[in-house]
Amino acid sequence: MKTTAIFPGSFDPLTLGHLNIIEKASRLFGRIIIGVLPNNAKTPLFSADERVKMIAEVVEKFGNVEVKCFDGLLVDFVREEQADCVIRGIRNMTDFDYEVRMSQVNQKMLPSYETVFLITDSIYSCISSTDVRSGVRYGVDLRDFVPPRVNELIREKYKENYK
Ligand code: PNS
Repeated sequence: MKTTAIFPGSFDPLTLGHLNIIEKASRLFGRIIIGVLPNNAKTPLFSADERVKMIAEVVEKFGNVEVKCFDGLLVDFVREEQADCVIRGIRNMTDFDYEVRMSQVNQKMLPSYETVFLITDSIYSCISSTDVRSGVRYGVDLRDFVPPRVNELIREKYKENYK
């Protein structure tokens, strides 16, 4: 039987760090569902639909990764999809502290909830979507932070920042 894992997040935008975790997960699990949460950021870089579309383009090559939007509680999404576990990427101990707490809160609501932590390769451990969003504001070259297709979409959408 195929093991289904959910990789949830805001992915605004998808970074090379996220892609590193997706690549690892696609080797370890039968089926991966990327769950895109339309985040509460007041000024998102991309709408949830744009994010779903851009991620689907980038992960097509893996063959076992799907992309869906979910709103509300992660445990409800896990139930609906009958997923076996949730994947979270860990860059450092700050991530770890936060994720352990999140996992335990989710376990209270859904006792069968399990998190699998995958450690980000060290070259990606300084990358965050938050920093990428600031970089876009100042027209920073983001090729070392996001996949080429995401960089293209950022430059198309925010051309005025990249003169
Ligand atoms: O991209 P992020 O910020 O790392 O993703 C965080 C995410 C989407 C995994 C987390 O905020 C989440 O699970 N949100 C859904 C609401 C929820 O279930 N919260 C759990 C405790 S109340």
